[in-house]
Amino acid sequence: MRENGVEYRLGPALLSAADIRTRVRELARAISRDYAGRDLLLICVLKGAAIFWADLCRALRVPCQSDFVAMESYGDSTAPLGQPRFTKAADVSLAGRDVLLVEDIIDTGHTIARLRDLLQIQAPRSVALCALLDKAERREVPTPIEYCGFVIPNVFVVGYGLDYGQQYRHLPHIATLRPRHVA
Ligand code: IMP
Ligand code: MG
Repeated sequence: MRENGVEYRLGPALLSAADIRTRVRELARAISRDYAGRDLLLICVLKGAAIFWADLCRALRVPCQSDFVAMESYGDSTAPLGQPRFTKAADVSLAGRDVLLVEDIIDTGHTIARLRDLLQIQAPRSVALCALLDKAERREVPTPIEYCGFVIPNVFVVGYGLDYGQQYRHLPHIATLRPRHVA
């Protein structure tokens, strides 16, 4: 894939499949403990969180329901394109539910802040966030991450659901991209 004379190729792994598996189990244990006896509704943020959600929900030891929302904040690029766009709302009512947002990565924080605002309109009992990755140094909007997988440096990553131009989502690990200048 080319962008302004730069071609991006798959780079070295940042997190192995085993690293991710171990951490997902730990997150699931914490969530299962905290949500025992509550009315847990997982909201998976498509598309990037789909693989994380699939592994996380199967590791939970408490009853839960799931729904899906979709927002678009990035096109086929590594740079943000402005305000997040909302392309799919939740199908079920959130009123009175204990909502746990499941996200792939928190970067500037704009997407999740906007999503939290929108969901609050439906008066859920609680809203918390479980994000696999946190690019903490990029934050522009402060947002609490109640369950965080890994804090990572400011590098663009792909794999385990995360894409670059819709590619690489299928990788079982998380890798960086390597820029290569082309004529
Ligand atoms: P934010 O609104 O800047 O926090 O952006 C969050 C969204 O941008 C994530 O849900 C991802 O879809 C996308 N994103 C941010 N950083 C990366 C990355 O390194 N790789 C792939 N997608 C990313
Ligand atoms: Mg996302």
